[in-house]
Amino acid sequence: MKRDILSILDLPDLMEVLDRAVELKSGQTTGRELGGKSLAMIFEKSSTRTRVSFEVAMTQMGGHAIFLSPDDTQLGRGETISDTAMVLGRFVDAIMYRAYRHTDMVELAKHSRVPVINALDDLEHPCQIAADMMTIREHKGRLKGLKLAYVGDGNNVSHSLLLGGAMMGMDVVAGCPDGYRPDAGIVAKAAEVAQGSGSTVDVVSDPFEAVKGADVVYTDTWVSMGDEEQVAQRKRALLPYQVNGELMSAAKSDAIFMHCLPAHRGNEVSDEVMDGKQSVVFDQAENRLHAQKAILLTVING
Ligand code: CP
Ligand code: NVA
Repeated sequence: MKRDILSILDLPDLMEVLDRAVELKSGQTTGRELGGKSLAMIFEKSSTRTRVSFEVAMTQMGGHAIFLSPDDTQLGRGETISDTAMVLGRFVDAIMYRAYRHTDMVELAKHSRVPVINALDDLEHPCQIAADMMTIREHKGRLKGLKLAYVGDGNNVSHSLLLGGAMMGMDVVAGCPDGYRPDAGIVAKAAEVAQGSGSTVDVVSDPFEAVKGADVVYTDTWVSMGDEEQVAQRKRALLPYQVNGELMSAAKSDAIFMHCLPAHRGNEVSDEVMDGKQSVVFDQAENRLHAQKAILLTVING
């Protein structure tokens, strides 16, 4: 049976995926197991890290990646997602999809006979969170029992973090203003997962309360792709949630700062924190490559 990764919850074996990613990063294994395999990559939205890391991952593992944008495929001229899925499945071994709508992600997976990997939609960003968990474990030596604070907009990245952190037994707190809280259904699901792994999930309004005693402080853009018409109101509401030196000092003194990138310096994060010694954002970006190699090997080769 094919294995789709539409949510971080579709990686119940995340710890094994991380172990494999670490082996690939250290050079203990090469991952050159995808000779002759192809990955179609559909991008409805812009990307730097996701596009480059998936393409390099396929190349380094002996396979090939094909970049597809709706503008220059028939998707942009009205071919349906279901027909596209059925056609691509006849050519390639897996499909990576960055979509506006999670419903389109589900539709593509439903009609594709090859595995579909969610490379970000309006609900989740599972590949990012796999790399994030790898990065936290690399810097902290463990995941279970750590406190992870996400501050800012309750968006796709926050959703996968709440779920992924709970899966790994981390205490996850989101500090978000009213109107920008994570989806209530996701929070409820994360709380249920946390209960099973002996941790907690919480959403609070005060960013200092969220960050207090945290081992990891995480933020993301205030204006996700697709939210561009709300720039002014978002900046107003989210300004008190900027991760700056003052907010970081509420966390543990050895806390790390994370951001999925791209960062908007001066908005959700100050230069001082982005460039400071607690920041691990570029390790985090690099780990996209290693974590996605492990995910590709898992879904393509099992
Ligand atoms: N973090 C992330 O997904 O970056 P890109 O949008 O550049 O792919
Ligand atoms: N939340 C951001 C993440 C970008 C990688 C967005 O969806 O635009």
